[in-house]
Amino acid sequence: MRFGVVTLFPEWVEQVTSVGVLDKANRQGLISVTGFNPRDHATDNHRSVDERPFGGGPGMLMQISTTEAAIKDARSALPDAPVVYLSPQGRRLDQALVAELARLPELILLAGRYEGVDERLVDAEVDLEVSLGDYVLSGGELGAMVMIDAISRMVPGVLGDQASAEQDSFAAHWLDCPHYTKPVEYRENTVPEVLRSGHHGRIEAWRLRQSLERSWDRRPDLFERKRLDTTELSMINEHLSTLEKASTTRDGKDDEEPDY
Ligand SMILES: C[S@@+](CC[C@H](N)C(=O)[O-])C[C@H]1O[C@@H](n2cnc3c(N)ncnc32)[C@H](O)[C@@H]1O
Repeated sequence: MRFGVVTLFPEWVEQVTSVGVLDKANRQGLISVTGFNPRDHATDNHRSVDERPFGGGPGMLMQISTTEAAIKDARSALPDAPVVYLSPQGRRLDQALVAELARLPELILLAGRYEGVDERLVDAEVDLEVSLGDYVLSGGELGAMVMIDAISRMVPGVLGDQASAEQDSFAAHWLDCPHYTKPVEYRENTVPEVLRSGHHGRIEAWRLRQSLERSWDRRPDLFERKRLDTTELSMINEHLSTLEKASTTRDGKDDEEPDY
């Protein structure tokens, strides 16, 4: 998978392939990241890449001509790539979108700076706007790097064991189950017996139950978008009756303080 990033900080963005699995994938030729800098097209003495917005107000915008020229460079290098603009106003990035984009051979990411990009340039050049979440960053570079990391993990061969991505949170819709390693005893807590039993079927069932219970406790919204099969339904019903019993026992006592 080939990524092009239109950014004022290409050296920074290209560093995303300098460590870990992405470094290895880059060296194996499975992924590549190339920056395209609007500043390379600046023509004045200050090498300006920003411009004042019409209507006044605080902040600058990315200059149309230099940004457009960098997008054009990216399109020539990656002719089959759609252009994604990182924007707090875009579609929220999730694993489903990551999986969708990972099927593409090429992707161009446009990282905004200042107050963003002229709306007409977005209309003319951008295929999709993607947001990292409901907060504002100083630029789209971190968003681009997050997307490159998440998408690259889905590219066949990038992870040593592709099954590990399939077990991650959201891959099969639910949150991942808890994991344990040596030692068996740690701070008076013992690794659940089932994980040491060597019984594949029981381990799978335990992991599914943990995933469902965690998802219910931490991300109940995940249940709004998924129909449960009979096994999942009975596990969740058991969890609900455990929670109900616990709350009946606690009745009359003050609510505990949150532990963070
Ligand atoms: C300071 S922000 C501009 C925010 C813009 N004025 C707004 O309120 O929608 C500069 C750039 O950072 C990037 N950015 C900021 N927050 C982001 C988010 N939540 N997701 C993705 N990109 C973001 C975008 O590329 C944006 O053009």
